[in-house]
Amino acid sequence: MNAPGGEVIDLERVICRESDLEGKGTHPFTLGRGDWPLKGFVVRAGAAVHAYVNRCPHAGHPLDLVPGRFLTADGTLLLCASHGALFEKSTGLCLAGPCAGRGLTRVPVRVRLGLVMLEEGAEPEALAATLDPAPQGY
Ligand code: FES
Repeated sequence: MNAPGGEVIDLERVICRESDLEGKGTHPFTLGRGDWPLKGFVVRAGAAVHAYVNRCPHAGHPLDLVPGRFLTADGTLLLCASHGALFEKSTGLCLAGPCAGRGLTRVPVRVRLGLVMLEEGAEPEALAATLDPAPQGY
């Protein structure tokens, strides 16, 4: 797709529209093909947008036991509903719970022309196979 100014948008790297984050502030997504596509979610933290693999470092469950629900009731933290782990939105660091100190796997994204896109060079299949590394910046 050609955007204004001649920039080419790779539609295969588009995760969602930034406007999809209005309301709940999160948006689940699936990227890639085959038996093990990348399942993740996008979350807004202030003006920034972050994305993570939807897999808890504690027992590997998806965070959203209730599909699409990723946040605590007050919306300030990410919650894994399986056993209550709490994660910081901007880093994916687990602040409390059975995996405290570990982190969600970051999916590198950027917002361009109102679209949340997977960064160039990031491969969905490789991210789907990645296990919980220490979060960036810690
Ligand atoms: S699987 Fe997330 S807290 Fe146990």
